[in-house]
Amino acid sequence: MKGHKMLVAFVCLGLLVIAPAGLQAQHDPGPRGGAADAGGPLPNLKPEAQALFDQALMQFQEVQSVSGDIEGEDSGGLGPTFNGNGCAMCHKQPTIGGTSPSLNPQVALAKLHNASNTVPSFVTANGPVREARFVRNRDGSPDGGVHGLFTIAGRDDAPGCNLEQPDFARQLAFNNVVFRIPTPVFGLGLVENTPDVVLRANLAATRDARYRLGIGGRFNTSGNDGTITRFGWKAQNKSLLIFAGEAYNVEQGVTNEVFPDERAGVDGCVFNSLPEDVNGISNEDRVSPFSDTVNFAIFMRLAAAPTPGSETDSTRNGSNLFNSIGCALCHSPSLTAGPSVFSSTADQVTYHPFSDFALHHMGSGLADGITQGAAGADEFRSAPLWGIGQRLFFLHDGRTSDLLQAIEAHADCGDKSWDRHDGHDRFQRSHCDSEANGVVRNFNNLKPSQVQDILNFLRSL
Ligand code: HEC
Ligand code: HEC
Repeated sequence: MKGHKMLVAFVCLGLLVIAPAGLQAQHDPGPRGGAADAGGPLPNLKPEAQALFDQALMQFQEVQSVSGDIEGEDSGGLGPTFNGNGCAMCHKQPTIGGTSPSLNPQVALAKLHNASNTVPSFVTANGPVREARFVRNRDGSPDGGVHGLFTIAGRDDAPGCNLEQPDFARQLAFNNVVFRIPTPVFGLGLVENTPDVVLRANLAATRDARYRLGIGGRFNTSGNDGTITRFGWKAQNKSLLIFAGEAYNVEQGVTNEVFPDERAGVDGCVFNSLPEDVNGISNEDRVSPFSDTVNFAIFMRLAAAPTPGSETDSTRNGSNLFNSIGCALCHSPSLTAGPSVFSSTADQVTYHPFSDFALHHMGSGLADGITQGAAGADEFRSAPLWGIGQRLFFLHDGRTSDLLQAIEAHADCGDKSWDRHDGHDRFQRSHCDSEANGVVRNFNNLKPSQVQDILNFLRSL
């Protein structure tokens, strides 16, 4: 007995000595350096489509001011509320169309042209670009909408506008604020062009394997035509054109033909005729006959998928493990697009998004309490992992820059104090109930070198 105890103590000591080395052995190698492996058009575009892409890429980079008469910010319509002043401000890493850059441009934007905004505490120079949603209204009913971080009040180009920012400090004190970070738009034309039957067959093909690991999965669908919606963290949006129109109004405050009504269009803060972005009419002095919104959609529809980095023995092994332990049951490695009108190379092409574009319950650690279409409080679209090798911030709220933490968070059973704030125990059911629990258990049973292979594999994407 005594000897056994000593042996245990000895082994524990041994583990203590080995553990730091073991932990050091498995770490996120960090973003892959070198040139951006993304940002170009689909290969072999027809010449007309190539011209459209070149034009649309420029439009995606334009910067908005209130009336469009500031040099370098000559696209109009910004505000009254906004989170950014150009698509490419937030969609930037590792290049135009991507995600949050390393230096958060929202900090400087708060005061640009003498604007009177304060920077909310959750927006920091080295943190991710963020937008904020409120979970509930004051009366306890669900809110869920995006509340613009900034207003144009005080700006030189918005004389007389007095619109105040939301009181974020107060809402934070009520645990009523949740965040989303930008997702990259590379390759989304292929996703848009993937038939519903392909997505449904892809999900059905893994039904038994998913069942054995406790993984469900269902699609979010459009309340209008019943087809699968695919875009956004909760797969809440139907098409790239609709997303472009919504983002233009929600992020920049620019009304358009898809979302024609000004948000917070209070007296004294509306400076343009509406909608501010229109096909033909507002564009007579521009090269493109299309509205900005249409150009944004064209850019995203024609943007190629990110290209992976080079393979090594470790990344190959990581890829095999990613499949064998069950990551691939949500993060589908391959899907096949339908016929393409833009490029013969994109025609029925097999691409590698590492997503099934379905929703999964992720438990209370990741739950944000927001419902969008069929997606409930703790449901998210399997985040597409293509291009993740060159990204800086992870998970819907950008809570980590470390891939290992992003993986462990899949099974975290955190507590959300706001879920009980108004006396409802809405999240009790999903507490510790992530569909990824079984797979994360498999992951945690891997040898350190195998964990490292998976991390290296992810950074090769
Ligand atoms: C202030 C930062 C910001 C700006 C500016 C911005 N976005 Fe985004 N973008 C986001 C965030 C945050 C998300 C995730 C939104 C969600 O799912 O709720 C996102 C997601 C998207 C997606 C979904 C991609 C996917 O993975 O499904 C598209 C498409 C998109 N944005 C297009 C645009 C376009 C076009 C513009 C310019 C009109 C734009 N965005 C401007 C922050 C921004
Ligand atoms: C049950 C489905 C499911 C399984 C299994 C799963 N994931 Fe995920 N994964 C998701 C969802 C959903 C998200 C987005 C969660 C969020 O942001 O709240 C995600 C996010 C991620 C992210 C962050 C992506 C981003 O855009 O920020 C990484 C990295 C990731 N998963 C890797 C893995 C790895 C590696 C495994 C296997 C060990 C795995 N996942 C298993 C569903 C799953």
